[in-house]
Formats: sequence, structure tokens, C-alpha cells
Amino acid sequence: MIKALRGMKDIIDENDSKKIVYFYDIASKMAQNFGFSYIETPKLELTTLFKRSVGESSDIVGKEMYQFIDKANNDVCLRPENTAGVVRAFIEKKLDRIESVKRYYYFGSMFRYERPQKGRLREFHQFGCESFKEPSVYEDANMIIFVAKLFDELKIKYEIELNSLGCNKCLPDFKEKLITFLDKNEDSICQDCKRRKDTNPIRVLDCKNLNCQEIYKKAPLITDHLCSECENDFLKLQDILRYNDIDFKINKNLVRGLDYYTKTAFEFISTDIGAQSAIAGGGRYDRLVEFLGGRKTPAVGFAIGVERIFELISIPSLEREGVYVGILDKKADNKAFSIATILRQKIKTFFNYDVKSLKSHLKSADKLNAKTILIIGEDELKNNTIWLKNLQTKEERIIAFDEVKSSVWS
Ligand code: HAM
Repeated sequence: MIKALRGMKDIIDENDSKKIVYFYDIASKMAQNFGFSYIETPKLELTTLFKRSVGESSDIVGKEMYQFIDKANNDVCLRPENTAGVVRAFIEKKLDRIESVKRYYYFGSMFRYERPQKGRLREFHQFGCESFKEPSVYEDANMIIFVAKLFDELKIKYEIELNSLGCNKCLPDFKEKLITFLDKNEDSICQDCKRRKDTNPIRVLDCKNLNCQEIYKKAPLITDHLCSECENDFLKLQDILRYNDIDFKINKNLVRGLDYYTKTAFEFISTDIGAQSAIAGGGRYDRLVEFLGGRKTPAVGFAIGVERIFELISIPSLEREGVYVGILDKKADNKAFSIATILRQKIKTFFNYDVKSLKSHLKSADKLNAKTILIIGEDELKNNTIWLKNLQTKEERIIAFDEVKSSVWS
């Protein structure tokens, strides 16, 4: 038997597919309310895009890419995340040269060759938003508030961790101080941190090695070295969040696993799902557009890990919806089928091909949660009528065939 690859999953269970559609539906509607428009970019990109954005020092690029040479000799990889692809598309369309703010939302598969475990897959899904050309820290707040409100709507509990990673004015100085500290502790830190010291030193701060964590308790902190602009923005962001009743805590070691961040960095953590507790993450990336060849463009965004929140979503009991069409006599099948076809153009319609008793049709319609049932039998065929029952109000009546076209089905 051929099986799905390790770390990759089907969504085939009826409840799961309902849940995923429900989630994308709510998240997409909310994104549109917040002024984001839908964007889709390819799943396969040139490897260099991620090397230059996510960064060669990151685990994602260093260890986890699905990378190969294609038939035209291009070095390509399946996207491990989508910010880089959206930025590439934004620059390619020359939108970096236009004044107006652009906001996008997306959802789809990402690929990281990690060791699979609960909440960690090799093909997983993200719902994300990216905003370009808005330097105001209100936009950072907007992103955090979006995720918070979405999780509230889905009844998902979370904690927000917040940090500032500084900008190219204050970060270089801080890096120097951190490197001096790391040099002094060179003999005690892990091999990964020794490598990070040369590639992207701030990444050492979220090293999972317990010995390193103990050492870094004495390390200099970014938030103690912010320039006045970064400091003011960080304080203002906290003010906005408090004003909007969004609880958060500052995590001074939160540096995120991707190299492109500046200033705001945040993560949403769930205490209900085990070790892989980060359910969303994001931040500001004011240098990335320029770094990938575009004009200097402030930007901020986030992505939610869909599989991580999957078991936390419960679909509210659904209202009855749609029409069920059933026949009591084989002779009625053509008529019923054509009625179902007319209805399908306006409303969700279930058509049962089998000749069954009224009782049995009513049972099937109830199981499908249909709101209305239409039945055609021998008598109805003769009289050009349909027997109708509203399964919500229990009202029954006879309608003429022609009424199907004109009736308002809701
Ligand atoms: P990220 O933190 O790498 O950020 O991923 C965002 C979320 O994707 C994580 O918080 C987690 O919930 C989920 N995730 C990551 N890896 C896996 C995995 N192997 N299996 C299941 N879920 C996973 C980004 O990707 C950035 N592009 C976010 C962003 C957008 N920053 C600015 N704009």
C-alpha cells in the first residue's frame, strides 16, 4: 500500500474538513474587514529567495528545506514560509514604487523537513497577513489585535509574548556587545551557538540548550540597547495593546527563528497543546523588501500555524442550511434531478438518487442538517407539485413545480 509521506497528512475526515473550511472562512472574512486582500504565490521558489530572507544561519534554511535542482538546472525549494514569496511578488509587480499601503492575506501549505511530532509536520498550513508601506506602530498593533480577535472568536486561549529586536541603528552596537559576551563564554556554549555567533548572534538568545540558557541569563539584552525611535515605538505598542485590553508579556529573549525581523517581534503561545506551543508568530521586517532588491519599504506581518490550533477549534452547532430533494417513485427521478440542478445554482442542495419512504428521506435530510426537504412522488408528478417541509419551523405545504424557480430559499 502506498502511504502519505512521513509528516504529511490528508484532511479527509468529514469533521476535519468542516473545521478547516470554517477556520479559513472566519479568518478570511476578518482579514477582509481589516482591509487585507487575498494573495496567492507559488509553492516552489528559487532557493536563493529564502537564503537571502529567512537567512542562511536559520534552522529553516540551514537544515529544513525541501531543496532540489529542477530540469532546467534551477536550484529550487518548496516554500518553508510565505513572507519571502509575498515580498518577491510585491517587488516583481513594482508595488514598492507606489505610495499606497498594501495589505495581503494568504493561506496554504508550507514545507519544512523537521522531525515530525505532535504539532510539527513536514507539510503544514499557515494563515498569514502581510502589510507594506505602513511605518506606524499602530500597524504592528493591528496585526497582534487581528490574531487576538480571531482566536477570541474561535474560543482559543493564548498568551502573547512581545519583544523588540531594534533596527539597523541600534542592532549593530548590541550585536558587538553580545559577541564580546559570547567570546568570553566561548568554551561553555553549544556548537550551534558557536556557529550562530558568526552568522546571526542574536539567535543564540533562544537556544534550547539548558546550559546555554543558564549562561545567557547574564547576557546583554536587546531591549536595554534600543535607540530612542525603537524604544518609543516599543512603549507606544505596549500602550496601544493595553488600551485595547490585550494582555501580553515581554519576553526579552524572543528573537524568532527567521532573520528578517526588525523592531516588533511577537508570538502567540497556547498552554493547551503540548510542546509545540507557538500557535502564531510575526513581527516587523522593515529591511526585507530592500534586501530582496526593492525600494526601502516598511512591512509587518504574522502567520498562524493551522495544525497547531486545529484541535482547539470547536465549530458552533450549525444552523440548518440548504435543500434536500428526494423521490418516492422511480418515475420522478428526471423531474427531481432537474429541480435539484436549478436549486444548486442558488443554494446548497442535496439530491438523493434512491427511491425511499418519506420517513427515510426525512431521516437523511435531518442527518445532513438540511433546512428544507422537497419530496416528489407519483401524486406530485401527476399534479405538477412538490411536497415541502421546513425542518426548522416544521411547516409543511404543497408548492407548484414552477415555484422552485421563484421561491426565495434561505
Ligand atoms: P514562523 O514562526 O516560522 O513564522 O511560523 C508561524 C507559525 O507556523 C508557527 O507559530 C507555528 O504555529 C507554525 N509552524 C511552524 N512550523 C511548523 C511545523 N513544522 N508544523 C506545524 N506548524 C508549524 C513564519 O513563518 C513567518 N513567515 C511569519 C511572519 C509573517 N512574519 C511576518 N510575516
